[in-house]
Amino acid sequence: MPTALVTGGTRGLGKAIATELAGQNWRVIIDGRSLAALDAAVSQLGGDVVGIDGDITSPAHRDRLVAAIGDSLDLLVNNASELGPSPLQTLAQISPDDVARILDVNVLAPLALTQALIQPVISRSGVIVNISSDAAVEAYSGWGAYGASKAALDHLSAVLAEENPDLSIYAFDPGDMRTDMHQAAFPGEDISDRPLPETVVPALVRLIDRRPPSGRLRAADLLAEVK
Ligand SMILES: NC(=O)c1ccc[n+]([C@@H]2O[C@H](COP(=O)([O-])OP(=O)(O)OC[C@H]3O[C@@H](n4cnc5c(N)ncnc54)[C@H](OP(=O)(O)O)[C@@H]3O)[C@@H](O)[C@H]2O)c1
Repeated sequence: MPTALVTGGTRGLGKAIATELAGQNWRVIIDGRSLAALDAAVSQLGGDVVGIDGDITSPAHRDRLVAAIGDSLDLLVNNASELGPSPLQTLAQISPDDVARILDVNVLAPLALTQALIQPVISRSGVIVNISSDAAVEAYSGWGAYGASKAALDHLSAVLAEENPDLSIYAFDPGDMRTDMHQAAFPGEDISDRPLPETVVPALVRLIDRRPPSGRLRAADLLAEVK
């Protein structure tokens, strides 16, 4: 039975990915800060799903994740992410503390988790997926700190791929999705026209099944191949 760690698996894209993997008989470990949301997600997902509550920026929490995984890991999905203040703030407005928090959650924590789990992933010639955003490559007003964090995550992904040619390492841009994070970015707006995160999952499954060369990939492009 293959094993996956999906950070931020209690709602949104992370939960949709975990649901698909559990349905395909993967052993899935998820995390999230809200224990109530974690318990609800674990019972909804069924299958061999383990929930570990905590903040991904906490070294002690990451240690618990690593201990739960053991010696082998087929798939690491660095999905948990911090948008920053809602409503979004311009770079002239956003506080250094908020920028530091965004970088901590979106860059430093995924790197630390990758460092802690690289040997278990190598042991399975596995896959690392870092969830990116179009804000990493486009300049949107208000998205500066978050976009910079995702650009940094993209770069870490690219260098990690150079350093580990036997692994499959992707920066995966899911596109807009109807989630709590997206609603926080557009407070008070109707986001019902955005696709649900479940619609993106077939692109990720294709990535894991086909394992194209490491790189930055967009869900929209992968979904076009599926059709
Ligand atoms: N939604 C979009 O339109 C969109 C577009 C492009 C890229 N993305 C990316 O897609 C990924 C998923 O986003 P989403 O929209 O599904 O977000 P979401 O609905 O807000 O879900 C985020 C998940 O991560 C967890 N989480 C957040 N901060 C955490 C932390 N510090 N430690 C541990 N868990 C944490 C949340 O649980 P707790 O709050 O309980 O911790 C939740 O399970 C993110 O990487 C995001 O940047 C989203």
